[in-house]
Parts: sequence; structure tokens; C-alpha cells
Amino acid sequence: MKFKLSKKYIITISVLVLTFFLYAKFVYSPVIFKILDRYKEFNTTGVPDGLTSLSAKECGGCHTAIYNEWRTSMHSKAYTDPYFKAWFKKDNEIWVCLYCHTQLERQMKFKVDGFVNGDLTRPILEINDEYEEGLEYEGVTCAVCHVYDGVIHGPFKDVNAPHPTKYDEIFTTTTLCRRCHEVPKDGLMFYKDNPCGTVEEYENGPYAEKGFICQTCHMPEKFRALTDFSKIYRRTGQHTFKGAYSMEMLEKALHIELDQKGDRFELRVMNNGVGHKFPSGDPDRYVLIITKFYDKQGKLLKKEVERFGRTIMYRPIIIEFYDSRLKPLVERSYEYKGSDLVTNARRVTVEVEYHILSDRAHKKLIKKYGLPKDTQKLFKLKPLEFRF
Ligand code: HEC
Ligand code: HEC
Ligand code: HEC
Ligand code: HEC
Ligand code: HEC
Repeated sequence: MKFKLSKKYIITISVLVLTFFLYAKFVYSPVIFKILDRYKEFNTTGVPDGLTSLSAKECGGCHTAIYNEWRTSMHSKAYTDPYFKAWFKKDNEIWVCLYCHTQLERQMKFKVDGFVNGDLTRPILEINDEYEEGLEYEGVTCAVCHVYDGVIHGPFKDVNAPHPTKYDEIFTTTTLCRRCHEVPKDGLMFYKDNPCGTVEEYENGPYAEKGFICQTCHMPEKFRALTDFSKIYRRTGQHTFKGAYSMEMLEKALHIELDQKGDRFELRVMNNGVGHKFPSGDPDRYVLIITKFYDKQGKLLKKEVERFGRTIMYRPIIIEFYDSRLKPLVERSYEYKGSDLVTNARRVTVEVEYHILSDRAHKKLIKKYGLPKDTQKLFKLKPLEFRF
């Protein structure tokens, strides 16, 4: 059968393609966040008796060590982090970001009183009388996790504090972390799992059964008193919340081996230190494993690059095509062949790079959204070296 394209057909196709391009270029992709019930389950307004403000500085007056740990964490930078600032600007400072990055009502200049036509991007804002000047700069501050209805919640039942306290099991489970480290997908979002699914990845992996929780790895245990003047020593968690911005944590992530097997090299990469996929969290992140083969003279024979990351189209609708991130305790192997490779390769190096975002997005944020030029985009681990 012969198929002939009619003029009408060609015009229709062209119009469709053009519409799609214009749509993709000018229409904004759907907001991945919505208002979750878990944001509304608690009241974060009141200041506990005995305290004058919800600022971390005030808590730090007594809980000095914990305050100093928290100050080094990304939680304390959730509003000032240059990447947050740049993306926030790009997303027209859409208020919904603040529900996780500065979650206390006292951190928000405005209260949201519904939406125009139910559109998340068009909130009806009211001046917030409770707003505490500058508190948003503390990001995920102490009170975000600890203060509910004017009472300080914590993991102990037997404390004697100058402020009201209450034992709460959210501190010894993953409930607290889930509030922000799990973003469920919504209509018109074709993610394989969830946009951000750290808690889900952990639950589907082997660590939950082994009795690990997020705190086991991200708040390492330390035996000490809660304040400078307290006498009772307790099992506490360090508030450093180290993640991908810590070389020490990144160094723990992978176990890498390289063997020569007959006419090929076999590279084996195992996620043996991360409780969820590697990398997790922000969907832009990816990891490169770069293997370089050198001959006796030090000449580069071959370079191979493997990528652990997500391939996502964001506009006009979100579609995740591929997720090559490495699951916890899973090993993946790669074979590198080549007639001369095994005979000539004498030295092989394996480099691991953790990228916060793509080169393109990084450049765009610098050019259009005020990201400082020197903001670090990737972290390189110490290269491994194998000799044959
Ligand atoms: C004036 C000193 C002081 C200030 C200010 C202070 N605390 Fe405390 N806090 C204490 C003492 C003392 C304890 C009890 C120590 C003990 O029993 O070992 C305590 C206990 C706690 C506990 C454990 C509660 C439990 O039940 O597990 C948490 C959590 C806590 N404080 C958080 C905070 C936070 C958050 C702030 C700031 C909003 C803050 N504290 C401000 C002195 C203070
Ligand atoms: C109120 C929301 C919220 C809660 C609750 C929360 N986090 Fe976070 N967390 C964030 C945000 C927002 C960031 C990113 C800050 C930034 O880089 O701008 C973050 C960053 C982190 C990072 C660093 C990530 C990186 O890229 O290096 C770790 C690790 C982390 N959180 C662990 C935890 C753990 C463990 C818990 C539970 C005990 C927890 N978080 C609870 C909001 C939260
Ligand atoms: C077995 C230890 C372990 C457990 C359990 C664990 N993590 Fe991690 N996590 C790591 C390590 C190691 C890294 C650094 C490597 C990396 O960036 O993934 C990390 C990184 C992160 C990051 C940075 C994003 C990234 O690149 O992966 C976030 C956010 C995070 N963890 C949150 C959590 C939360 C929330 C939980 C609980 C559901 C959790 N982690 C459980 C070990 C753990
Ligand atoms: C992201 C949530 C989060 C933030 C922010 C946070 N904490 Fe905690 N805090 C926890 C969790 C979880 C525990 C229980 C850790 C454990 O014992 O394993 C805890 C425990 C504590 C305890 C009891 C000692 C212990 O480690 O069990 C004190 C006191 C405390 N926090 C004070 C603070 C202060 C002060 C700040 C701010 C400088 C702060 N916290 C910020 C989640 C948080
Ligand atoms: C459901 C809670 C939640 C909401 C809503 C949210 N975030 Fe986050 N955000 C997080 C958590 C948790 C992390 C840490 C995960 C990680 O580091 O991979 C994070 C990390 C980030 C990072 C990475 C920071 C870095 O240094 O690499 C950027 C940028 C960011 N968020 C921007 C935004 C913007 C812009 C919005 C609004 C459009 C937003 N977030 C809304 C929870 C949230």
C-alpha cells in the first residue's frame, strides 16, 4: 500500500508540532508540591513558657553543643543556601516552598487564606501578626522539629527543664523526617516513584528491617548532657544531619572493585553505606563513575563513564524516563572490553563525582537567577587506583 501525505495532513502535523514547542517553551511545568495534610496536623505558633522567642539562638543559650552542630547542618541553611535562593527566585518565590524550608508559622510574613480558583500558584495572602522578624533565615530551625502548641517535644520521658516538655515518639521513628523528605506525586506527574522519595526508598530497602532509622546514620549517637549545666548524661543524637555536602558521608556511600577477567575488565560498584538510593532527594542530583585506563607510558587508552541519576522531562508535563540510581546494598557490574585494553592497560583509575545539578541548570541559575558563580556544583572523591 502506498501512503501519500496530503497537504492538509502536513499542515495539521506542523501546527501540532509548533503548538507543542510553544507550550513546552512558555508553559510552566506543574508544581510538584501540594499542600499535604501532614503540614496542617500540628500547630507551631506558640512560644513555650520560660522562653522569649523560637529562635535557635535562644535554645543555643543552654543547648550549646547541639546548637553548634545544627549550625553546620543544611537544615540551618534551608533558606539561605544559594541553590535554594536561586531556584526559589526562578519559581517566582512560590510560597509552597516555605512549607518545608521555613515551616514555622512565625517564620512566614504572610498567612495563606485559600487560593484564587484553587490555583496553588495564586494564594490569597494575609499579613501574619505572629511573624518573628528574621526567623526565616534559620531555615529548619530547632522549633520546627521540637515545638508544638507551645510545648517542647523530645525523645525523653524524665527531663526536668526550664520549659514545658513532652515525650514524643516522632523523634525515635522516621515520622518526623517523612514530613519533608517525602514528596508524593500528583496528577500529570509520571515519576517512577515519588518526586522526592528518600523515606520510601529507605522503607523499600533492607535498612528498615535491620532496625536502622534516618537518625542512626544522620544523627550519630553521643553520650552527653543536654545542656552545659545539666548533670544527667544521656544517649543523644548529634544534630549535624550530614548528607551529600559532607565528604565524610560521600566516602561511605560506595564500595568499588575492579578485576581483570579474561579478555575484559569488570567494574563492580556497590551502595554499601547509604540507607536509600544513591543519590536521593532532589531529583536533579546525579553521580558519575569515571573509569580511565592507562598504558605503561601513562597514555590514556580508554575512558568509560557510568551515571546514577534520573532522566526527567519537566515540560509540558513531567515524565521520568529512567532511574539508574543505585539501591541500598545493591551491586551493579560493568564490563569493559577491547582487544588491546586488557593487554595494554597497566593502571586504571576510578573517579566518583557527585553532582548537585546539571551543567545546564547550573549555568542558567548563574546567568538568570543570581546564583553566585563560585557555588560548588560537584564533589570529587579521592580517585581509586588499580595496577595490573
Ligand atoms: C534556659 C535553658 C534552656 C533553654 C533556653 C532551652 N532549653 Fe531545652 N532543656 C533545658 C534543660 C535543663 C533540659 C533538661 C535536661 C535534662 O533533663 O537532662 C532541656 C530539655 C530539652 C529537650 C528534651 C525534652 C524531652 O522530653 O526529650 C529538648 C528537645 C529541648 N530541651 C529543646 C529545646 C529547644 C528546641 C529550645 C529552644 C526553643 C530549648 N530547649 C531551650 C534547658 C533549656
Ligand atoms: C521541616 C522540614 C524538614 C524536616 C522535618 C526534616 N528535614 Fe532534613 N532537610 C530539609 C530541607 C528543606 C533540607 C535542604 C536544605 C537545603 O539544602 O536547602 C534538608 C536537608 C537534609 C539533609 C542534607 C541533605 C543534603 O543534600 O546533604 C539531611 C541529611 C537531612 N535533611 C536529614 C533529615 C533527617 C534525618 C530528618 C529527621 C530526623 C530530617 N531531615 C527532617 C527539611 C526537613
Ligand atoms: C545506612 C545509613 C543511612 C540511613 C539509614 C539513611 N541515610 Fe541518608 N545518607 C546516608 C549517606 C552515607 C549519605 C551520603 C551519600 C548520599 O549523598 O547519598 C546520605 C545522604 C542523604 C541525603 C542527601 C541526598 C543524597 O544525595 O542522597 C538525604 C536528604 C538523606 N540522606 C536523608 C535520609 C533520610 C530522610 C533517611 C531516613 C528515611 C535516611 N537518609 C536514611 C546514609 C543513610
Ligand atoms: C530536623 C529536625 C530537628 C531539628 C531541626 C532539631 N532537632 Fe533536636 N532532635 C531531633 C531528633 C530526631 C532528636 C532525637 C535524636 C536521637 O536521640 O537520636 C532530637 C533530640 C534533641 C534533644 C534531646 C537530646 C537527643 O539528642 O536526643 C535536644 C536537647 C534537642 N534535640 C535540641 C535541639 C536544638 C537546641 C535544636 C536547634 C539548635 C534542635 N534540636 C534541632 C530533631 C531535630
Ligand atoms: C515537602 C517539602 C519540601 C518542599 C515543599 C520544598 N522542598 Fe526543597 N527540599 C526539601 C528537602 C527535604 C530537601 C533536601 C533533599 C536533598 O538535599 O536532596 C530539599 C532540597 C532543596 C534544594 C537543594 C538544595 C541544595 O543545596 O542542593 C533546593 C534548591 C530546593 N529544595 C528548592 C526548593 C524550592 C524552590 C521549592 C519550592 C518550589 C522547594 N524546595 C519546596 C523539601 C522541600
